Amino acid sequence: MPGNTHKSRTSNKMMTLFVCFLAALAGLLFGLDIGVIAGALPFIAKDFNVTSHQQEWIVSSMMFGAAIGAIGSGWMSSRLGRKKSLMAGAILFVIGSLWSAMAPNPEMLIAARVVLGLAVGVASYTAPLYLSEIAPEKIRGSMISLYQLMITIGILGAYLSDTAFSYTGNWRWMLGIITIPAILLLVGVCFLPNSPRWLAAKGHFRDAQRVLDRLRDTSEQAKRELDEIRESLKIKQTGWSLFRENSNFRRAVYLGVLLQVMQQFTGMNVIMYYAPKIFEIAGFSNTTEQMWGTVIVGLINVLATFIAIGLVDRWGRKPTLTLGFLVMAVGMGILGTMLHIGIESPGAQYFAVAMLLMFIIGFAMSAGPLIWVLCSEIQPLKGRDFGITVSTTTNWIANMIVGATFLTMLNTLGNANTFWVYSGLNILFIILTVMLIPETKNISLEHIERNLMSGKKLRDIGSQE
Ligand code: BGC
Repeated sequence: MPGNTHKSRTSNKMMTLFVCFLAALAGLLFGLDIGVIAGALPFIAKDFNVTSHQQEWIVSSMMFGAAIGAIGSGWMSSRLGRKKSLMAGAILFVIGSLWSAMAPNPEMLIAARVVLGLAVGVASYTAPLYLSEIAPEKIRGSMISLYQLMITIGILGAYLSDTAFSYTGNWRWMLGIITIPAILLLVGVCFLPNSPRWLAAKGHFRDAQRVLDRLRDTSEQAKRELDEIRESLKIKQTGWSLFRENSNFRRAVYLGVLLQVMQQFTGMNVIMYYAPKIFEIAGFSNTTEQMWGTVIVGLINVLATFIAIGLVDRWGRKPTLTLGFLVMAVGMGILGTMLHIGIESPGAQYFAVAMLLMFIIGFAMSAGPLIWVLCSEIQPLKGRDFGITVSTTTNWIANMIVGATFLTMLNTLGNANTFWVYSGLNILFIILTVMLIPETKNISLEHIERNLMSGKKLRDIGSQE
């Protein structure tokens, strides 16, 4: 009956949208938790009277938890499934948010942020994986960039809510309010279907078929997809043993590690976590100015992500990345020079802010989304779970190092040198991008895999020949 088919097609579309919305909510929470600390930290520092070193630990304990969470979720999402992993992540988000809002002392706050980190680690591994397994083929590619967009919207949301609460200085509300989206995620995840790919991998083909029937337009489409999944399951994931035996696979894993180290050592999170502090260094002594400046940073981060979405498949990964690193190197370099000379006049202050924003644009249009895209493209199917676990964990470890050293760098190297170090690193990344990073635009994942495994140079694994 045409009427019925139409109705079920519409409801299948709604179901797919609902599923994608929920998985993206995990990205939003990831961003909220990254962003919230920037505005809360100055008030926490005042309230608990903590040293710079303790502040660094309040910031970085979350990344420590996230590294553990990312390592654990490779195992968890394959044993318990993606849905139950997301559920565990959502429960940890609720516990971590409530606990950190109520922490009676800095030690408890650090412990609570490790729990939040576990949640973020689980979400940052499981949500994109689930999305890529459930989204129809046509939109699978854009999902990763959209996921990054949700992260940046989360960061902006946190900056806005921090600003709203900053008038009363109530950092407990800043941290506690995140419980609401965390509960929404928890309730929503209960209604999610299991990933059809995971069900099939566990041998539950009939259940996998049922889920696909609910998500795809026609039952032929669902059947075709299940056949493809069956076919791809013939290739067993061997991860660790493949890593030991195959030097070509090892190269892909190392490349994933390098890519994530490059993303983090651009210095982006120095700004994400310590933005109000940086505005203070640039001469904005008033808290309201610092908070609104931070909101503008968050907004520009969201908007510039659209540049990446537009450029990634047209220009390609390599030129976009190179340009991004260049923009970041110039932004940080000039900022360092201005701090060296001294920022005295209002004109100089605003110019310093412009340089900061230029850096943010450089990151959001390139390394932000593109590193995640590349990391998911370069791993051969047989070692994909392993390779992505290693690169995601590296992201969090590098993230922790950056967060845990910034204030110490300012205190020991001085303001100007700290920014120059990051500028120098971005110049180094331009060279590494040109020498080592492949262009993977318009080439199938199978082709990349064949190039990699046949021993082609890393920078050539995206070539068509
Ligand atoms: C990075 C995060 C960063 C965020 C900023 C992500 O791609 O992994 O570390 O905070 O972008 O937008």
